[in-house]
Amino acid sequence: MAQEIAFQKCINPDCGATYGIAEIVHHCPKCGNLLDVAYDWNRAELPSDVRQLGAVDPAKVPGGMCRVSGVWRFGAMAPFAPADCRVTIGEGHTQLRPSPVVAGYAGLKNLWLQYEGLNPSGSFKDNGMAGAFTHARMVGAKVVACASTGNTSASMAAFAAASHALKAIIFIGDGKIAYGKLSQALDYGALTLLIKGDFDDAMARVQEVCGQEKIYLVNSVNPFRLEGQKTIMFRILEGLDWNVPDWIVCPGGNLGNSSALANAFIELHELGLLKKMPRIAVINSAGAPTLNNLVNQRGLKWNGGRVDDAIINKYYAELDAKNERAHTIASAIEINRPVNLKKCLRAIERTNGCVRAVSDQQIIDAKAWVAREGLGCEPASAASVAGTKMLVEEGVIDRDATVACVLTGHQLKDPHATVAYHSYDAAKLVETYGDYGIRTNQYGNRPVPVANDLGQIIDAIRAHAE
Ligand code: F0G
Repeated sequence: MAQEIAFQKCINPDCGATYGIAEIVHHCPKCGNLLDVAYDWNRAELPSDVRQLGAVDPAKVPGGMCRVSGVWRFGAMAPFAPADCRVTIGEGHTQLRPSPVVAGYAGLKNLWLQYEGLNPSGSFKDNGMAGAFTHARMVGAKVVACASTGNTSASMAAFAAASHALKAIIFIGDGKIAYGKLSQALDYGALTLLIKGDFDDAMARVQEVCGQEKIYLVNSVNPFRLEGQKTIMFRILEGLDWNVPDWIVCPGGNLGNSSALANAFIELHELGLLKKMPRIAVINSAGAPTLNNLVNQRGLKWNGGRVDDAIINKYYAELDAKNERAHTIASAIEINRPVNLKKCLRAIERTNGCVRAVSDQQIIDAKAWVAREGLGCEPASAASVAGTKMLVEEGVIDRDATVACVLTGHQLKDPHATVAYHSYDAAKLVETYGDYGIRTNQYGNRPVPVANDLGQIIDAIRAHAE
């Protein structure tokens, strides 16, 4: 039988088994590894010039597709669904902004912020969810589920509500979710299970439940999610007038994104639509440092697909023996067992990338600098800026380099962290966040209490005038 244009393919080069796109298999039934969505590009309709990518006439799109989804605008690079199956809630209308303020902080001349907080549910997860819900529709799913630190679940719940058909079930580690994200899950009407455990526990349980109950899993082990996440990179390219940046820097949690971001460039490069590849830096929080520890301390590599599983198994056995749990203020990436670890190793090898871990203090300080640009992000997103600063100081990123940091989630996702940083005095800060290693709020903007009195209000304003 002739191969379809799109299919699923095992990432293990020694296996390479393929499966149809209608099959729901997140791990290769033959060897247990993850799957990619792969394409026979010879049969795809592609532009001859990368500059034409994304140029769609809204008048020619069915129903306007939410004024042309920022994901499906680039549907040529994810041709797994017929146009009339594509699901959208108007995701991907995000922006790439040059940031002289954050560039100065990181020691660069040319730093750009890709602001994904503008997505309908406030995080970059909406890109991938458009892919997953499209596939869910193709296979006739009725119930969707995910484990989440909060953004995947908010996004899934929003798409499910907007579908007017799909039921959503969310697995959250109890107490392990920022307030804004929990409010979204509840408000969008998802069944929200607060599991006594953390994200890693919730992720293990949701995979068991979905297998047993035939529920459609939308976590990033689902490769159709990653197809949507690729489009963040196309929008960065578009924002740079199709010039490839030297570096893309992103936070690393469950590690689906780093792999999707790399794939976007690998595919364009292999198709001859780009001549250059960026390097990708994946930034862990030091409180959830599995990738950093495995790569930088234990020498774990993709190694052409021959990953040394013994290194990973030993690391996890040690975590279990010490009952060591991820613990970081960047709750979005509070993950010790990233399910897409191997795909991320591949992304690092193929882009000559690197991994770093930054402290929660570095994260929360960087977050305050991002906001000075007029773009608010949640703590995990600021890991990209903190990591950039670290890599510039180490001399890995050249000061003349063009760097794009992905700001993955909106500031309002986690208002507690922001208000605490700006308003707490040193003692209260240490009391509340000391166990994350946070000691100072040197870039804080303290609110000013003042009497309800005209004279005192004017005095307060004058005292703070520059
Ligand atoms: N930034 C934010 C704001 C996130 O929510 C996540 C992941 C990441 C970065 C890391 O991306 O997992 O692909 O490495 N959040 C997941 C969730 C885990 O459940 O919302 P990743």
